[in-house]
Amino acid sequence: MTAGKIRIAVVGLGNFGQTWAAAYAALPDVAHVGICEPDERLLNTVGNKLGIERRHGDLASVLASDEYDAVHLVTPIPLHVEQSIAVMKSGKHCACAIPMALSLEDVDRVVATKKETGQTYMLMETEIASAACLYVRRLYRDGAFGDLQLMRGVHYQNMEGWPDYWRGLPPMYYCYHGLGPLLHVTGCTVAGVQCRGSGTLPEEERQYGSPYTTESAVFELTGLDAICEITASFHRFARSFLSDRFYLYGSRLSFESPQIAGEDPVVFEAEAGVLPDGQRGRKVSVKRMDLPPMADLVPDAIAEVVRTSRIRRQTGIPMAHEFVRSIVEHRPPAVDVFTAANWTAAGVCAHESAMRNGERVAVPYCE
Ligand SMILES: NC(=O)c1ccc[n+]([C@@H]2O[C@H](COP(=O)([O-])OP(=O)(O)OC[C@H]3O[C@@H](n4cnc5c(N)ncnc54)[C@H](O)[C@@H]3O)[C@@H](O)[C@H]2O)c1
Repeated sequence: MTAGKIRIAVVGLGNFGQTWAAAYAALPDVAHVGICEPDERLLNTVGNKLGIERRHGDLASVLASDEYDAVHLVTPIPLHVEQSIAVMKSGKHCACAIPMALSLEDVDRVVATKKETGQTYMLMETEIASAACLYVRRLYRDGAFGDLQLMRGVHYQNMEGWPDYWRGLPPMYYCYHGLGPLLHVTGCTVAGVQCRGSGTLPEEERQYGSPYTTESAVFELTGLDAICEITASFHRFARSFLSDRFYLYGSRLSFESPQIAGEDPVVFEAEAGVLPDGQRGRKVSVKRMDLPPMADLVPDAIAEVVRTSRIRRQTGIPMAHEFVRSIVEHRPPAVDVFTAANWTAAGVCAHESAMRNGERVAVPYCE
């Protein structure tokens, strides 16, 4: 760390990694950014575009360097566990793209390494920093929903043509975008799950041993009577991706994400008391929600960065800021290793339940 500022390397400059390098470069608490990518042409293209001089062809040279306090992994899914462990063992803090791991054993190994090394670990689940999630979290914490009755989240995406490691991935291994915002809003953890698989993958696409294109789960949460339904589908599914697909239903207020991109979310508000003259039910108003701009929802220190940034994925800026500030302030980050372990185990156990025809599976790391 130099003068309270963090020196960070972003590793893996595919589709997603480039936006993180740009996000860190824009932050007030970052001293410098390095980049790492085995594809030399890509490394130099991104380095030249962002004006980043520190360039590495492999993770080993980043870990051997004393020019970095932290590393952000944006590499292919199968590399996350071993690379996270290597980063923390090298004495550096680690941020990792989702998923944390694909098995409970690997979740345990990452948690054990964090405990052993004392380094910060943060899972970069981006949907928790969307404008909708930040705003709904505020409303929830102010008690606007009344008693929560039900939550729902979905992640539909067509992964055909994506890198090979996506082929046949059990959808629940990547259920973070549906589940994460709801857990972040309520502050709950997952205690148990029942899940069913849906659809059929052709034999040649089952590299993870899963036969399902789609999975639908019911999660039990700690400290809340409401359950959380999550559906995820990535394969052979005629539905375009839309972020922020989550729904909360309360006794006073309900929130529904938009159906298609470009629309605003909808809020339903129940008026107090019953209708007059023996009429049935309660009057419920329906309106489109005008979300505040992202810059009004993030910490003051980065409001201007968000307002003026041309980075496409704006959620990266508050996430990157949170990781950096947690290191500077010596505190756990928003999605620390134990939270990440619970969210990840929830998806792994959900798939396990689907493979056992919906049997309940207890989820570890719940509080
Ligand atoms: N919103 C989100 O949270 C979100 C969105 C997209 C992707 N992701 C995650 O981010 C990760 C990257 O996604 P992507 O679409 O950019 O993937 P990608 O496969 O397109 O890119 C990965 C990059 O890592 C590089 N790489 C491969 N092996 C490496 C190694 N050993 N060391 C360093 N770099 C290496 C590759 O050359 C490639 O440029 C994935 O794990 C994915 O799950 C998360």
